[in-house]
Amino acid sequence: MNVTLSALPFNRIDADALVVPVFEDDFQLPASLESAVAWIESLKASGEFSGKGGEIAILHQPAGVAAKRLVAAGAGKQAKFDPRQLAAATVRTLKSKGVKSVAFALSAPTAPHVEAAVEGALLGNWEAEKHKSKSDVKFLEWFSVGAWGDFAEALTRGRILGESQNFTRDLVNEPANLLAPLHLADRAKAMAAEAGLECEVLDQDRMKQLGMGSLLGVAQGSAEPPALIVIRYKPAKAPITADHLGLVGKGVTFDTGGVSIKPADGMEKMKYDMAGGAAVLGAMRAIAHLEPAIPVTAFIPAVENMVGSKAQRPGDIVTSYSGRTIEVLNTDAEGRLILADAITYAKKQGCTHLVDAATLTGAIVVALGSVNVGAFSNNDEMLARVLSAAKVEGEKMWHMPCEDEYRDLLKSPFADLANIGPRGAGSITAAWFIREFVEDTPWVHLDIAGTAWLDDNKPHMPKGPTGVAVRTFVRLAQDWQS
Ligand code: BES
Ligand code: MN
Ligand code: ZN
Repeated sequence: MNVTLSALPFNRIDADALVVPVFEDDFQLPASLESAVAWIESLKASGEFSGKGGEIAILHQPAGVAAKRLVAAGAGKQAKFDPRQLAAATVRTLKSKGVKSVAFALSAPTAPHVEAAVEGALLGNWEAEKHKSKSDVKFLEWFSVGAWGDFAEALTRGRILGESQNFTRDLVNEPANLLAPLHLADRAKAMAAEAGLECEVLDQDRMKQLGMGSLLGVAQGSAEPPALIVIRYKPAKAPITADHLGLVGKGVTFDTGGVSIKPADGMEKMKYDMAGGAAVLGAMRAIAHLEPAIPVTAFIPAVENMVGSKAQRPGDIVTSYSGRTIEVLNTDAEGRLILADAITYAKKQGCTHLVDAATLTGAIVVALGSVNVGAFSNNDEMLARVLSAAKVEGEKMWHMPCEDEYRDLLKSPFADLANIGPRGAGSITAAWFIREFVEDTPWVHLDIAGTAWLDDNKPHMPKGPTGVAVRTFVRLAQDWQS
């Protein structure tokens, strides 16, 4: 889809639809849309339309307006205006009606609003139907933000972010037979080549040499070999900081649970168990284009958690890359096992700050549902950086505890630590397991099990992958101050 800016008076923009956000509290139209005021006033007076989020009214062949349709889009309260969500929802509605071109009228535009509208349009134009041989979904071809001012940079950032988040969603949506660990590595290499990034893939032999027993223990149950994908971004200008950000993403291309096997019901969803890795890849794509001042390296441990005859068993003890031994009490707690070795590797590669994203626990779904990402940390300053990046980007995250008392729950009589604790505090013990390997490096862990996949259609997003965490990662890198 083409995205552009238009500085024309709104009534002169020629498009299939001109979308005008109409607020619930205070509705004002610019002079160029004088002719629409009466229509909106009568809509409001009729009670059919109040400006609440999600409402939409369409007028064909509006008088005095070049566009074929005038669309009043409920934008909620002005103070809570969310142009990303509004653009996504209206694009989804309009494209389903065969509309090909949309102009989005912002009467008091700001750069963040322009950017968010562009992102929203790209996100709203995304569909998960790639593998249907006959699909009747329709797409928008052109989206323009009607805004007067210098917003070229905002437009570009919005486009890069929207496209990168969709890149992540495409990966997450791919079924596991078409996206095994080595395929994920190929996709990463192709993306890196296109974006001008360095990509290195550590194969099974290399990981054996290095002693990554924790990651390899998970991989050994599958015929699909594992990979540790590493992508490096280095600022072209001499870095202004000695800091080095490491982004680590769980890349389990399918999670059967292993010998501690999952129930059949809903298991098909476990193709999204690489959503953390895919979010890191999408973020690196955007970072390559936006060129933040800090070096950023991505680490994606990619494995398939299967039940082959060589699969690891409950009770097995493995030696991690860090040297710590782990008693694998439950083979379904595999994400933390592969992250442990990837994190040790990231530290050895010189990362001074770490963020990981992982579909790590069902317990975070119980705690936070599909609304908030769970954020765990060992460092208040690092946590504040991540949460503020998330806030700016409109990705909801909630600080979860990670206090010392929870560490004891991972004690094992036979090894340095066990890979699960007792029933309670499942997301926290999972975070603590990772923290053992992070040690004192400032770190935030994002448990995205509840937020990386939407179970039902929403106005602004279809059922399926959300691409959560991409925007937070990119903002974190761009806003980095040492
Ligand atoms: N990939 C799952 C977590 C998950 C669950 C993601 C539901 C998305 C939706 C993870 O590998 C897992 O199986 N975790 C176990 C841990 C348990 C064995 C301690 C879980 O949450 O049940
Ligand atoms: Mn699992
Ligand atoms: Zn998993």
